[in-house]
Amino acid sequence: MITRSATHTPYVIAPSILSADFTRLGQEVTDVIQAGAQWIHFDVMDNHYVPNLSFGPMICEAIKPIAKNAALEPIPIDVHLMVQPVDTLASSFAKAGANLISFHPDASAHVHRTIQVIKSLGCQVGLAFNPAEPLSVLDWVIEELDLILIMSVNPGFGGQSFIPSAFKKIKEARHRIQACGKNIRLEVDGGIKPDNVRAVADAGADTFVAGSAIFGQANYSDVIQAFHTQLSA
Ligand code: DX5
Ligand code: ZN
Repeated sequence: MITRSATHTPYVIAPSILSADFTRLGQEVTDVIQAGAQWIHFDVMDNHYVPNLSFGPMICEAIKPIAKNAALEPIPIDVHLMVQPVDTLASSFAKAGANLISFHPDASAHVHRTIQVIKSLGCQVGLAFNPAEPLSVLDWVIEELDLILIMSVNPGFGGQSFIPSAFKKIKEARHRIQACGKNIRLEVDGGIKPDNVRAVADAGADTFVAGSAIFGQANYSDVIQAFHTQLSA
């Protein structure tokens, strides 16, 4: 088991609205927040970087006012850009209310510059790594980051199966975060379910994207509670 730092903040469940019922998206966002979602994960696909097309900044702007918990505290919108190029759309999402914007380093010609663009817009910034992509770019930019996102499926679609090699990469990312000493969240995205979340947390992850595991179910509270039960075991 990996030891997390003293500055570690609690586990976060981030439902991906890619698997929501789009005919009633606002209610889905409200329902999943009431059920205990701590972040809203917002998957942006451009039919260029990935072979699928999802939603853009107008939808982000539309859900921003309802992304609040019962105490009317804002729920962070965690934008995962699967787009190429990155910078212009990142700016649009910052203006649309994104709190955190992650992008794939191979989608930007100038990774360090894109990180600075996102930070200059007042958002936190993350780097996302595909299953066959090394973490070596972190040698040069980890201190600039707020989040590292490990893809445990190939990006583009919800409902895929977790790729086991992600465990090794999560462990490596956790070691890099510990060596860096900064409080960087370690998010895992793809095929996360209550029955594998404990093992993913033990590898070092602290933030869990779940799409089909939550939106496919009758009772969102039960699923989110099942995640937390596993994480507290
Ligand atoms: C894949 C997306 C994921 C996906 C997760 O490209 O980044 O967020 O929607 O969906 P599940 O949890 O169904 O694997
Ligand atoms: Zn995602």
